[in-house]
Amino acid sequence: MSTIRNVGIVGAGQMGCGIAHVCAVAGYKVQIYDLSAERIEAGLATIHGNLARQVASGKMTDEDRKNALARISGSADINDLSQADLVVEAATEDETVKRKIYGNVCPVLKADAILATNTSSLSITRLASATDRPERFMGIHFMNPVPVMKLVELVRGIATEEDTFATAKQFVATLDKTVTVAEDFPAFIVNRILLPMINEAIYTLYEGVGTVDAIDTAMRLGANHPMGPLQLADFIGLDTCLSIMQVLYEGLADSKYRPCPLLVKYVEAGWLGRKSGRGFYDYRGEVPVPTR
Ligand SMILES: NC(=O)c1ccc[n+]([C@@H]2O[C@H](COP(=O)([O-])OP(=O)(O)OC[C@H]3O[C@@H](n4cnc5c(N)ncnc54)[C@H](O)[C@@H]3O)[C@@H](O)[C@H]2O)c1
Repeated sequence: MSTIRNVGIVGAGQMGCGIAHVCAVAGYKVQIYDLSAERIEAGLATIHGNLARQVASGKMTDEDRKNALARISGSADINDLSQADLVVEAATEDETVKRKIYGNVCPVLKADAILATNTSSLSITRLASATDRPERFMGIHFMNPVPVMKLVELVRGIATEEDTFATAKQFVATLDKTVTVAEDFPAFIVNRILLPMINEAIYTLYEGVGTVDAIDTAMRLGANHPMGPLQLADFIGLDTCLSIMQVLYEGLADSKYRPCPLLVKYVEAGWLGRKSGRGFYDYRGEVPVPTR
């Protein structure tokens, strides 16, 4: 098994920051890369806030918080990933974007560095083919919010070698997460099951079966889900939900995965959920307000 000390993260969005957070708390040195200094600053501010909340709720000492923060650096220069033993790519769920990133990041990496993707749905084997190291490439799929959620799905591509898989498994264990292994099928296990349910909730809204509040209340109290499916969609990001449904629809060639037209329209409008301030709820006030 290879030794991981330095972790690189591509993408300072909600997932990249969450992964950086748990890696730093576990003692890894973390280097975050994104397109601009502003995005990195915003990401680092989120990590600061989340670590402070963990201290306030008694889950972490202030000294551990300071030590974790001291282990995280950010830069918009991709060359700063050169020391990474493992890079986790957590950029936008778009195959073209990810392929372009691999083209830029691979020449910078150490020859034996592992490159992993946090993709929610895309083919690991196909993404691996855009790298110079398919045998050192695999899916390490964290759940949102990363500091809270216990599960990590591990997905091998056809060329992933055993050392890569074993190293990733050991790495995830050091983050105090539980591994589940999925085969390389569209959306793997969690999102293959979860996203069609969310899409169906959006159809339920679209067809006027219930309001946003009625649908979310029904699933919270009637199915004992901790959060309603529309609230969860806003939390995941509606652009990410749409991308996953498109991957399921195209990858499995089955009309039951057709993305709801209302989801498409919301994404076209730039209503992406919490991260854009509006989705099925409006987040601009003190409390989220249902929009339909
Ligand atoms: N949101 C979820 O609940 C969730 C859960 C598990 C996995 N994922 C996956 O994690 C990944 C990221 O999702 P997210 O929710 O953090 O998205 P996000 O929109 O919050 O963040 C994406 C980040 O990628 C950056 N980015 C885009 N192009 C880039 C490039 N060329 N180089 C560097 N950075 C670039 C963006 O600037 C942004 O900061 C996606 O693959 C998504 O499917 C998301």
